[in-house]
Amino acid sequence: MDKMKKEILFSRKAIDLRVRELAAGISRDYQGRELIVIGVLKGAFIFMADLIRSMTIPCRVDFARLASYGAGSVSNGKVILTKDIETSIRGKDILIVEDIVDTGVTLSYFVEWLQERNPRSLRVCAFLDKRGRRKVTFEADYVGFAIEDGFVVGYGLDFDEKARFLPDVYIMKD
Ligand code: IMP
Repeated sequence: MDKMKKEILFSRKAIDLRVRELAAGISRDYQGRELIVIGVLKGAFIFMADLIRSMTIPCRVDFARLASYGAGSVSNGKVILTKDIETSIRGKDILIVEDIVDTGVTLSYFVEWLQERNPRSLRVCAFLDKRGRRKVTFEADYVGFAIEDGFVVGYGLDFDEKARFLPDVYIMKD
């Protein structure tokens, strides 16, 4: 782990500021509504914990887990749900919270899956967005930071299950 070559991309201070801004926007948008926040495991757990604690509106939480298959770290469009949510979302305002949008394949699948259950509204908040790497059209409604190509770790994001616990976000070198 210590041998992973990496450089800081976003410090915990910069992350904290941005998460507060996102939380303020979400709180304004959902004022007076009953929001259910759905985190995508495992990557989103730290971001989601910070986000909802910075929000000034109440919410309920649930989690889902998705797996995508492909060569190496690139998904090939096959996504399966390995853990479904446990809450009824029909007629409810739903906010999906994800660590990063890359090809867009995972979130397009999950959004479609949830839409079939007829929520009142469904939006996506992604901590990071690699816009240049989409394989399918997908736009998150709230984005922490847009980033260029490259592999990032920390603040919930892993490389081979390592580095999720790091409070800052790093970009891997080599
Ligand atoms: P997508 O389906 O290609 O958009 O993949 C999204 C998932 O790929 C994310 O939820 C992450 O688990 C993983 N992923 C994509 N890029 C990175 C990265 O730079 N660091 C860590 N995980 C990543």
